[in-house]
This record gives sequence, structure tokens and C-alpha cells, in this order.
Amino acid sequence: MSGVFRVEWGERRIARLVMDHPDRRINVLDVAAIESLERALGELEAGAERASAGVIVTSGKSGSFIAGADIEAIGAMTEPAEVREIVERAHRAFSRLAALPVPTVAAIDGVCLGGGTELALACDSRIAAEEPRTQIGLPEVLLGIIPGFGGTTRLPRLIGLTAALDLILTGRALDARRAEKAGLIARAVPAAWLADAAERRLAELAKRPAARRRDAYRARGFGAWLVDSTPFGRNFALDRAGAMTRARTGGHYPAPLAALRVLRFGLGKSIEEALKLEAGEVPELVVSPVCKNLVRIFLLSEQAKKAPAVKGFEGRPEPVESLALIGTGVMGAGIAELASRTGVRVRMRDVKPEALTKALQTVRGLIDERGRRRRMPAREKDAQMALILPALDLSGVERSDLAIEAVVEDLDVKRRVFAELEVRMRPEALLATNTSSLSVDAIAAGFQHPERFCGFHFFNPVHRMPLVEVVRGSKTSDPAMVRAVAFARALGKTPVVVRDAPGFVVNRLLMPYLREAMHLVDDGYAVRDVDAAMRRFGMPMGPFEVLDEVGLDVAQKVAVVLSAAFPDRMSAAAALDRLLEAKRLGRKNGLGFYRYRAGRREPEPRISGLLGLTRKPRAAVGEVLAERMVLAMVNEGARCLEDGVVEDANWLDLAMIFGAGFPPFRGGPMRYADAVGLRTVEARLTALRAEKGERYAPARLLVQLAGSGATFTGLATGAGS
Ligand code: NAI
Repeated sequence: MSGVFRVEWGERRIARLVMDHPDRRINVLDVAAIESLERALGELEAGAERASAGVIVTSGKSGSFIAGADIEAIGAMTEPAEVREIVERAHRAFSRLAALPVPTVAAIDGVCLGGGTELALACDSRIAAEEPRTQIGLPEVLLGIIPGFGGTTRLPRLIGLTAALDLILTGRALDARRAEKAGLIARAVPAAWLADAAERRLAELAKRPAARRRDAYRARGFGAWLVDSTPFGRNFALDRAGAMTRARTGGHYPAPLAALRVLRFGLGKSIEEALKLEAGEVPELVVSPVCKNLVRIFLLSEQAKKAPAVKGFEGRPEPVESLALIGTGVMGAGIAELASRTGVRVRMRDVKPEALTKALQTVRGLIDERGRRRRMPAREKDAQMALILPALDLSGVERSDLAIEAVVEDLDVKRRVFAELEVRMRPEALLATNTSSLSVDAIAAGFQHPERFCGFHFFNPVHRMPLVEVVRGSKTSDPAMVRAVAFARALGKTPVVVRDAPGFVVNRLLMPYLREAMHLVDDGYAVRDVDAAMRRFGMPMGPFEVLDEVGLDVAQKVAVVLSAAFPDRMSAAAALDRLLEAKRLGRKNGLGFYRYRAGRREPEPRISGLLGLTRKPRAAVGEVLAERMVLAMVNEGARCLEDGVVEDANWLDLAMIFGAGFPPFRGGPMRYADAVGLRTVEARLTALRAEKGERYAPARLLVQLAGSGATFTGLATGAGS
């Protein structure tokens, strides 16, 4: 095998250390790469006089630097000793790079994440191409680990503790300009000038005395001096970051706390000693279930971006360049903004002029908000806006590649819209409904060409929620599915293909969960306690908080569809009826299971009366409450798999994490059930069935798997298994 790293001896006594992984499309620091780096460093050390003007570390892959460590390998490693060996080996190699007797500069163009950034940090200085593709950061905590190839140790010494805490604890990446501002790179330059700028940077470094050659942090201002130069200030900053991290993660994520320990005990010490602390923390993190769950979900989400939408279908989908959007309410406006963002022309139609005006305002607001964050020039924002054409009629839709209907959730209204659309659209155009609960087949009944019709289930708010369920009707053709999935991907969403069945996946699992929350309240538990139990479990919001956010009227529509489909376990929700009768819609009118004042959620003292509760109030026992709700979700998940609504447990878990906020560190409901043990899950369901009734009857698939000692995720055939 040819090397991953090679040394190119250049003119003017400058050498290039080029990473170009022969087995991969993008550079990844796997074991082969580290081995190769060791050899290349040996060459550089031996030939230092041929590189006396310096070494430029760069990538042989055009437009990308180094994407990071080998994430699949991290997901597979189960032996702490093996992890430690790799970490220490990388430390030794990176320290040799840092110790080269000549100036070193990393020239970064494109993604530079994790191990890539850590390699760059071992250089004396860094410059980067000022292009949107350049992203520099340490996203390790998002995978349940810490920057362990020297990043936790070297970053604060370069940019100061406060900025380093921000990057290490959030995992967010910076573009070149922001990286320059933070001091992470010395200079952001246009890509075409990168090579020249790297040489110039070497010359600048060469003028410095050898002992001060490395770019290093210099505190500016009293506050920064306090934090970076005094133990008191440092501990204060670390204590505060620790408290914030614990509040944000509920203590469920060990990695940020491990990073804080390395910083606390390593910052006053030498690099070598600090690296030892790093090497001490990484192994346990890598082998922990949290890391394994986060890595699995990350790999699945990558798969969702590229796996074939229909197995065995080879054809390439025609891109969607123009979209007809019918119905410009909450969802329509969100979809219009997203599509125009990717350069798709949008003709949006509503029957009400005021709805169009409002949608245009919403879109403009979203573009401005994003423009501010990304510092988009005004002309770029205007160009995006100019892609959207509002209309009160359907004229012009015949030129669109795709029509998405997002009118009110009413079968007849939707059908009428498609009756008009079908005759106007070109035969090769794709038609789709955006629905949260209606059947795609029911809408398509009577279509002349149901094969070119499918469903999207976008989530609210569209610009923020990563998931889209792409619904395959019984007559939807393969090319139509492939095109719909490609469109969802082009919008930057994570598509999960689902069969046309009530509630698809996300709402189907959420409904018994929300129903169980209402049963708990009927049993005498307080709304607040039920919500708190699920927050403690790791959900971003409790079930009643979710209902209030979604809107009780919207939730009721889904509940009606699901209770009609599964009357034995999802009986109609009387609590929703009662609150709706009292004109309580949730946050949108300030009254739901809670009440809202100036945007703040407060307990509703009259809630028992409003819900007509008669039971004596009960003190909460957190785990018991959470268990009942989560088991309801798991059991329904098993039924979904039984019914083939989604391909396998992997995709189901991904959908619940991205669409319903199921805690990622638990890996999704099916993974969670596997971790608890299916025999235990079955036994608990059976006990609850005896106590509470048939809705707890364990699903057939669950009983079968528990009996044979198998697992849900072990059965999975799709990505990530
Ligand atoms: P919305 O009520 O905000 O907007 C619906 C819009 O459609 C209104 O502006 C209305 O004037 C317009 N409309 C009604 N009949 C029309 C017709 N014949 N031609 C053109 N426009 C017409 O509704 P929202 O919330 O945007 O929902 C749209 C669809 O998306 C529904 O099917 C809903 O179930 C689904 N959905 C909603 C979610 C949510 O959280 N709001 C989440 C996921 C899906």
C-alpha cells in the first residue's frame, strides 16, 4: 500500500507533508494513517536541513483537509487498552511534529475536524482557505468522547480557556474567518492564495526566536488574564462551565465532564503531563455505551444521506429545479424557505391573500435570520427571496418538477387540490402531500397516476427539525420514491422511508407515549411530575410540554386518526377534548396543560378541575413514571417493525431521535429496549398488563425476540447494523 502521508521536498528548502489517503475519498486518521505519519516524520527528522525553511502540512484531496479520526473504528473498539495504545501512539507522533526543529504551518482548505484539527494544532501555525467548505473544529463530544489526539491539551494554549471551552464543549466548528478571529488560525485567505500564504507564514515564523516560534495565546484584558493566568480565574471558569454542562446534559453525557477534568488538572502543567491526562480519559469514554450509541446514530444519519432509497434501484433521479407549493401556512412557508435556499424556484399558492403575505414575511424573516448568522450579503438574500413567486391561482404549475400540497389536514380538501393538480402537471412531474396523519393511499384514491404520488411528513419548525418521513403509498413507483428522497436530501434533511400506515413512525410511537402520560395524570400524578420524569430520562421536553408546543388541536387530529386505527390501545384522548372544549390550544393561545405568561410556562393551578380528575394526588416516583411511558413507545415500536412500517430498528431509532427528540445517548427506543434486555422488557409489560390492562400486551415480535435471546437492533439489516 502506498503511504497515507508523503513528504515532498520542494524548492527554497520548504518541504510539504501531504496527507492523501489512498483507500478513502476523504482523509481520515486511521491506524494506517498514524503509521504512515510516523514514517514521514522520520524522513523529515532525518532530512531537516533540506527543509530548513519549514514544513507545510497539507492535504492531497482537493477541497478537503482531514475529516477526523476513523469513526467506524471508534464505534467498534471495545478494549480500553487497545484505545489507549492508539491514543498514545497518536500523541507521540503529533508531539514529534510539534518538535520538528523547523517552522511548521498547516494549510487548511475544506473540512478540518477532530483529529484533523488536532494535527493542525501540533503545527507552529495555521492558515486556512476562506471558503464556505472550510470548517475547523473539535466535534468529539458529539460522539461521546473528548478531543484525544492532543486537542483538549493544545487548544486552550492557543486560543485561551474561554474560547476553548466553547469549542470543546459544544463541538461546533468555525469557518475560516471566525477561526481567524478566535486565534485558531493565523490568517484566512482565498483558496487560490493558500499555497503562497503558507510559504509567507513560514518566513514570518522563521524570523521569530526558536523558543517563541509557535503561535500561542496572549490574554488581552483583565478578565482574560484572570481566567488564563490565575488558578482562581481558571477554576471559576471551569466550575461555571461544569455547572452549565450538567444542567444542559442532565449528567447523561460523561464526555464534556471528562474534558473539563483534563483542563482543570492539565492546564497548569506541561504538555506531556496534560497529554497523559487526556490519554487517561479517552479509553473509558470510547468503550462506553453512550459513545457507541452516538457513533451508531451518527453513522446512520450519514447513511440516510446516501443509502439507496429503494434497494436495487439503479436509476439516477432527475433533480427538482422548480416546486409548486399549495397551501402556505406554517409548513408551506417553512418548505418554501428551505427549497429556495437550495436554489429551487418556488411558485407558492394559497387561497387567502393574507396567508400569502404572512408566508412571504415568514420566509423573509427566516432568510434574514440565517443571513445574519452566516453573514450573507444582501444581494444573496434578495436572490433567494426572488426565487419565490406567490400566486392565488394554479397558473404556471404545469412547468414545475414537483408539487407539494400543504393545505389543512382534511382529506377532502387535499383530494380537491390534487384533482386540480393532476390534470395540470406534466406527466413526469412528482406529486406529494405534506401530511402528519392522513393516508397517502386514501388521498390518491381516484388519481389517474398514483404511481407518481407520495407523502412527506416534515416536522415543525421545518427549518430546524432534521427529519422528514418520506411516505411510500401502495402504488408509488420506485423512481418517484427515489426522486422524493433525493429532494429531501437536497434540502439538507435526513429522510427515513416509511410505509403508508397510520401515524407513520414518529406519530405512531408518540401517541401511545402521550396517552400514557394522560393515564398517569388520571392515576393522580401531577402534570409537572410526569414532564419532569421524562426530562430526567433525557427528553428535551416532557409529554405535556410537547403537546402544548405542537398545539392541542393539531395533536387531536393525529389522535383521532390513530385511535380509529388502533382502538384497543390508543383510545380517544378525553383530556384533549376537555381542554379543547375550554378553548385551550396550547402555547399558541397561552393556555394548554400549562399556562403561558410573557412566553413563560407556568403550572396551571386549575388543571385537575379542567381535566375532571377525581383521583387523590400521588407523589411522583420518577423511574416508574418514565418506565410506563417509554415502554408504551417501545412496544408500539415493536408493532411498527412487525407491520413493516419502516425497514428496521436502525431507521426507527434514527426517526425517533431526529423527529421526536428521543435522547441520542440512549440510542433510540429499540436500542434502549435492547440495552435493558428484551426479557426484562417483556416481563415488565406483562406485569403492567395484569395491573393496568390490555394496552400493555407485549407485541408479538418482542415476545418472539425475547424468547430466542435476540435483539431489535441485531435484526436490523439496514445501515449501521
Ligand atoms: P396551516 O393551517 O398553517 O396552513 C394551511 C394553509 O393552506 C392555509 O394558509 C390555508 O389558507 C391554505 N389552504 C387551504 N385550502 C387551500 C387550497 N385549496 N388551496 C391552497 N391553499 C389552501 O396548516 P399547517 O400547520 O401548515 O399544516 C399543513 C399540513 O401540514 C397539514 O396537512 C398538517 O397536518 C401538516 N403538518 C403540520 C405540522 C404542524 O406542526 N403544523 C407538522 C407536520 C405536518
